[in-house]
Amino acid sequence: MTDISDAKELIKNTPISSIIQNYIAINRKGQNYEAVCPFHSDSHPSLKINDNKGIYKCFACGAAGDGIKFVQDKLNLSFIDAIKEIALQLGIQVEEQKTHNPKIEIALRTLKAANRIYQKVALDLKPEAFTKFIKERNLSEESIKDFQIGFAPQKNSLLTYLQSIKTKEKNQAINSALELGLIREGRNKEHYDFFRQRITFPIWDHSGKVRGFSSRIVFEHQKPKYLNSGESFIFDKKNILYGFHLAKSYIRKTDQVIIAEGNMDVVILHQYGFKNSVAIMGTALSEQSAKTLKNMTSNIYLAMDSDNAGMESMKRANSIFLGLGVAPKYLDFSPAKDPDEYLQKFGRLKLQELLENAPFFVDQLSESLQKENKTTDQKLRALNQVFTIYGDAKNNLWAQEKVLEFARKLGVNSSSEDILAEFKSSKTNTPQTNKIHKPAHVPVMEAPHNDNQYIEEQQIQTPPTEASTNLRKVDKNLLTTFLMNPEIVEAPQISEILDLIGHFEVKRIVQWLQSIYLEIDESDYTSFLKEKMQEGIPKEVNEVIASVIFNFKTDQKLSKEIIDRLLNDYKRRLEMEKLLMQKDQLKKRRSTSHSNEESLEYLKQIQELEIKISSLKK
Ligand code: UTP
Ligand code: MN
Repeated sequence: MTDISDAKELIKNTPISSIIQNYIAINRKGQNYEAVCPFHSDSHPSLKINDNKGIYKCFACGAAGDGIKFVQDKLNLSFIDAIKEIALQLGIQVEEQKTHNPKIEIALRTLKAANRIYQKVALDLKPEAFTKFIKERNLSEESIKDFQIGFAPQKNSLLTYLQSIKTKEKNQAINSALELGLIREGRNKEHYDFFRQRITFPIWDHSGKVRGFSSRIVFEHQKPKYLNSGESFIFDKKNILYGFHLAKSYIRKTDQVIIAEGNMDVVILHQYGFKNSVAIMGTALSEQSAKTLKNMTSNIYLAMDSDNAGMESMKRANSIFLGLGVAPKYLDFSPAKDPDEYLQKFGRLKLQELLENAPFFVDQLSESLQKENKTTDQKLRALNQVFTIYGDAKNNLWAQEKVLEFARKLGVNSSSEDILAEFKSSKTNTPQTNKIHKPAHVPVMEAPHNDNQYIEEQQIQTPPTEASTNLRKVDKNLLTTFLMNPEIVEAPQISEILDLIGHFEVKRIVQWLQSIYLEIDESDYTSFLKEKMQEGIPKEVNEVIASVIFNFKTDQKLSKEIIDRLLNDYKRRLEMEKLLMQKDQLKKRRSTSHSNEESLEYLKQIQELEIKISSLKK
């Protein structure tokens, strides 16, 4: 028996070809193997597999990685599940991660039993209140099965079961149920079920174990509408996303995630085919949950209710994601109240349309400020609000451009420099998130916020504009050259070059290269590069790294003269790109300018840029 991390090591030491050949046909070709790539439609052997380097790369679609990544993508599995799958193929026995904590084990068993009982009551006895709810809410049999929706009747169904246990575990189970809040103790010490006359929704952790329950009323007079089992040593609501274990493979597959507010929204979203949906658990989105999602996709859709509480919840989620380097999009369900109502009223295609045309949440917010601000005071106040909106991404070029664009549209007369200086010194949202309002109806306390997590990365990782997400020719060329010749990072001109690199990931990798270059042995270099590829960097960048791993040779070093020439050349090209981008922006602004005067001013600036550009060309 091996544990997961040993299995991972064993897999890393296994030739990658012997892993991949279990899933596709491969042919030896000199040093490499070749295959038809399974990640795009092709009939040519574009996929190359190299055992020495432990890597595959498709020279047509760019898919690349190690053996685990291949199985993850081929079978749509999580990292851990891919390891288990490969271990199975290689005949390695992986032991399930055992908790070895009897208290947790009993709690998990009790939760599982409760879930079984609620489902059994629903499906075997078919209580009228349950069937009526299912019918009214238009829930399919598949949804009930997938989400294990059950029913807790008026009588004590869970307690009766616990008391019927014949083994010595009976008392432990009853105590566990008390601690989990599934049963309660009355004044006369008698026990009773916590959930009665309610629809039950088990809440799973991210690997699919039941950790607690949510429940909904079936009669109008009952209160509260939703009742959750209490926070406990085993149930950390704020870090659980409802439906995540069902949604995760779809989040990866579609490279999108929809974040809703309510359980029923998730169930109905899945029922209508949007299986990449999850919900927050009656609390605000936590930093940890946001990170989990962000590591899987940068296409985040906020789909909370279209009321004030929903808006506040989205503001908070948006702020957290901006702080992590992704800008979420926004789904406006009005006139419907939530995704459930929207889907039932307008259908699947309408929601698909909504997704395709979704604006960035930040743009939506600043748009609503654009209107009705006439006096200078009003304008400045609006501008300040926009500073707050984009504040979590203030070091990012994209956010700065957005702020300037807003100021221009609003007709603020200050210079760009002044506006940006003001923006950069404005307050950031995230460190004060405990101030952000939570949905009014949510009766849950939140743990104090951990500010430290915000400090680690102020900059945006994948800023969502074309200018900065797309790897331009010069970025790609520079990255390849630097990675192929890491000795370049020792040159004194590097800091100047770093300032000029516009692409955030490229810059980060060059900085990383600088930090490791002196530390590592040259023979380890490609394995360091391979590790880097697993950090969830954009596909285009991964592609470059994969080619470098394929082509890297240890014995070639560039001379100082060549490095100087190369770096001067990059400097010129990067400067040129920057000027061209500025020119583009000025042109855009000019086309939307409000007066002749303004338009002329832009024209003047454009001409100045053109002079600089032509002098650089010489
Ligand atoms: P909503 O009141 O918006 O419910 O609460 P909903 O999802 O539209 O429910 P249906 O459609 O009427 O069945 C959204 C979420 O807020 C939490 C729950 O997690 C719920 O799913 N909530 C709501 C509570 O925790 N307690 C409440 O009393 C109400
Ligand atoms: Mn609803």
